[in-house]
Amino acid sequence: MTIGAAAFESDWMVEGMAPRMYGHILSASGQLPDAMLMGESVEEDEFSHITVLREEVAEFLEVREGMLILDGTLGGGGHAEALLERGAMVVGVDQDEEALEAACERLEPFGERFLALGENFRDLGEILEEASVQLDGVVLDLGVSSWQLDSPARGFSFRHNAPLDLRMDRSSGLTAAEFLAEVEESDLADIFWKYGDERASRKIAKAIMARRAKEPIETTYDLAETIEKVVPRRGRVHPATKAFQALRIFINDELGALEEALTWIPRHLKPGGRVAIVSFHSLEDGMVKRWMRGLSSEWIDRPEWSEPRRNPSCVLREVFKKGIVPSKEEIERNPRSRSARLRVAERRRKA
Ligand SMILES: C[S@@+](CC[C@H](N)C(=O)[O-])C[C@H]1O[C@@H](n2cnc3c(N)ncnc32)[C@H](O)[C@@H]1O
Repeated sequence: MTIGAAAFESDWMVEGMAPRMYGHILSASGQLPDAMLMGESVEEDEFSHITVLREEVAEFLEVREGMLILDGTLGGGGHAEALLERGAMVVGVDQDEEALEAACERLEPFGERFLALGENFRDLGEILEEASVQLDGVVLDLGVSSWQLDSPARGFSFRHNAPLDLRMDRSSGLTAAEFLAEVEESDLADIFWKYGDERASRKIAKAIMARRAKEPIETTYDLAETIEKVVPRRGRVHPATKAFQALRIFINDELGALEEALTWIPRHLKPGGRVAIVSFHSLEDGMVKRWMRGLSSEWIDRPEWSEPRRNPSCVLREVFKKGIVPSKEEIERNPRSRSARLRVAERRRKA
């Protein structure tokens, strides 16, 4: 557990916590994980600095000078930068050390108004509790960054041959290669189906078992080839796209992390504070939508009740009912933003 850099004095300084400073490398991230896997022929640099819904996130958080905002998915620091430019103090969290280093370099000009924290956002409830911190805003921009996908050594994309890793936090958990070496066929098929919406889930799982019996699946190319042999290529989308996405979501327990974050966010938002969540996957967006609705409805009704009752958990207000999607211009500029959806809620002043 680490809170980095000596910014935000008093409130943020947690006794006994060693600062974790990061300080070099990289350009900021852009966005857009899954589309990176879509086999689109794009120049690598084309997306490397693009943050999705950058201005919209800052605008809907109603950022004012001196606000304390937590960016739980710092990535290359694009959203954090937009918040800092508007005068906020930002705590940037990422579980990927290399992303933190990159963002620290980019955000260095903001000095002590920016603080970096190497954590999984799922664990922040406890950390904020310990530090007795209440926030004016929270941003989550889910998934992986294009920098992670573009980096051949990270093994996120079959565009490069690399060890099949797929972890954002390389210090913990199984790599995708290790997982594939031990998973049961039926469990693997369920993962492809559930997280990738992959109709050929069983066929792919079977092919992986057959290959694994002969030789280990160690690299991104090993896996992509195995899939390509049993799922014919249709159009521009590589047949391994959905399977890679599903494995990544599973390996990083992305939905579990989101679920945990949704439990601490309302507790740590000040009255009037806002949370903005950008999702790229319908499972994530569905979770966020149900969560916001559940905590925003003033009344609940059940068939067994004679009349609706007040919702004791009504602590949020949805800022808008439908998610915001990128403009046509943004999608044209950055096709990988096309699946993004932003939802924003505000902590009610009175529960
Ligand atoms: C889509 S990128 C964020 C891009 C960033 N908003 C920008 O504009 O540059 C997502 C980042 O969140 C990080 N991330 C994803 N899930 C996380 C989690 N549970 N805890 C901490 N970091 C996470 C990833 O490592 C990645 O760097």
